Amino acid sequence: EEIGCLSIIVLGASGDLAKKKTFPALFHLHRQRFIESHDVHIFGYARSKMSDDDLRNRLRGYLTPCKGCEETHEEDVSKFLPLIKYVSGPYDADEGFLSLDEEISAYEMSKNDKGGPSRRLFYLALPPSVYPPVCKMIKKFCMNKSKGGWTRVVVEKPFGKDLNSSEALSTQIGELFDESQIYRIDHYLGKELVQNLLVLRFANRLFMPLWNHDNISNVQIVFKEDFGTEGRGGYFNEYGIIRDILQNHLLQVLCLVAMEKPVSLKPEHIRDEKVKVLQSVLPIKDDEVVIGQYEGYTDDPTVPKDSNTPTFATMVLRIHNERWEGVPFILKAGKSMKSRKAEIRVQFKDVPGDIFNLKSKGRNEFVIRLQPSEAIYMKLIVKEPGLEMKTAQSELDLSYRQRYQEVAIPEAYERLILDTIRGDQQHFVRRDELKVAWEIFTPLLHKIDNNEVQSLPYKRGSRGPEQADKLAEKVGYVQTHGYVWIPPTVS
Ligand code: BG6
Repeated sequence: EEIGCLSIIVLGASGDLAKKKTFPALFHLHRQRFIESHDVHIFGYARSKMSDDDLRNRLRGYLTPCKGCEETHEEDVSKFLPLIKYVSGPYDADEGFLSLDEEISAYEMSKNDKGGPSRRLFYLALPPSVYPPVCKMIKKFCMNKSKGGWTRVVVEKPFGKDLNSSEALSTQIGELFDESQIYRIDHYLGKELVQNLLVLRFANRLFMPLWNHDNISNVQIVFKEDFGTEGRGGYFNEYGIIRDILQNHLLQVLCLVAMEKPVSLKPEHIRDEKVKVLQSVLPIKDDEVVIGQYEGYTDDPTVPKDSNTPTFATMVLRIHNERWEGVPFILKAGKSMKSRKAEIRVQFKDVPGDIFNLKSKGRNEFVIRLQPSEAIYMKLIVKEPGLEMKTAQSELDLSYRQRYQEVAIPEAYERLILDTIRGDQQHFVRRDELKVAWEIFTPLLHKIDNNEVQSLPYKRGSRGPEQADKLAEKVGYVQTHGYVWIPPTVS
């Protein structure tokens, strides 16, 4: 099958997202020959005036070698950078997009004198306020004109601030592009262990009988960062941790943990199940939410002194269906915490008819650590080795670094961009999914915006407000004291 040449257009080419994520991901895809010099060209577009070489030089420092690629790095970079061309122009006026189209077409002509299919991928590394004008311009001037080719648009959150604003944005973009052309990135869906959830759950007999309210007491989905909002306080203060992390990243993880088995692996089948489980989420109760703000957050000059924006949140989502009735899903996210990690912790119920006095020893837990140090481990009770008949906590441990020593785990953005080129929407958020996600959080967000729910102060580098731990405990989470799992190091 003839697929034709590929143009990747990064709009917002000099911005943070483009420099830190988009271009490095393209670089690694090129290095691994998923995109190849003979049929790909990359265009950077932004307002500022600069030459091709200016952009290339700006990007150079962000292209870092992966483990094991150090030796060829210089060569890899020198093969990649010449593929990038820069076009400058405004985001809402014809002339810039006319010249962008000319540049793309010229490249396509040079590759494709028979007028065969060509592919145009527009990556909007831009603030969402300019999505509508930019989409209009793309639609008006820059669509693929060849037969059998395509035009696709990649966008990333924040998709609005609540249900109404998000729907308004979806409608504006939806009038210009079909759902099949729109790729809404949630980069958590590109993480190795998030992608593994479907396999773990539906390819292992072991979990099938256990994965329900009969056996599971509670599920925690946790995101922590050990740094604050330094440098992006202005953006963050408008949104807060719920819009920044829970409404998208943690909720997507929840979907994959909780959804029913899809009919097949087809993207629409998977997304149908995600929508269904989201539709089963009950309204969040006021007394099942704790929000916090770390002390010193408002020292940032871009943040108003009286800001109530949460930098921490713990809340309980309840899924009203046959599988999950009565099981609290505790979502927790915080900035400026003690450590950096993201994990899913499935805690099982106590053993019935316990003869070992296990209460004090902790419960079985199945933990999926998304980062850092990817791992899957299962906390179990074993006989403490030795002469006495005593029990102890131990674990079955699958640490990726140890088990897959030769494998460099790809960056989320690499995978997701490759999916957009291949036309696989499985790991992207569908419009109806986005809508339900906003339905779940909007009432609470409005209460916070109106100061009806107050952020509690917490110390930088702490566990967050202690009320959050109390809430988790109240709904059934039992913390094991004295048990710490440390990922093994590779010798
Ligand atoms: C982004 C948030 O979506 O995810 C940031 O806007 C956050 O606030 C980041 O730091 C975390 O991503 P990761 O991949 O480092 O866990």
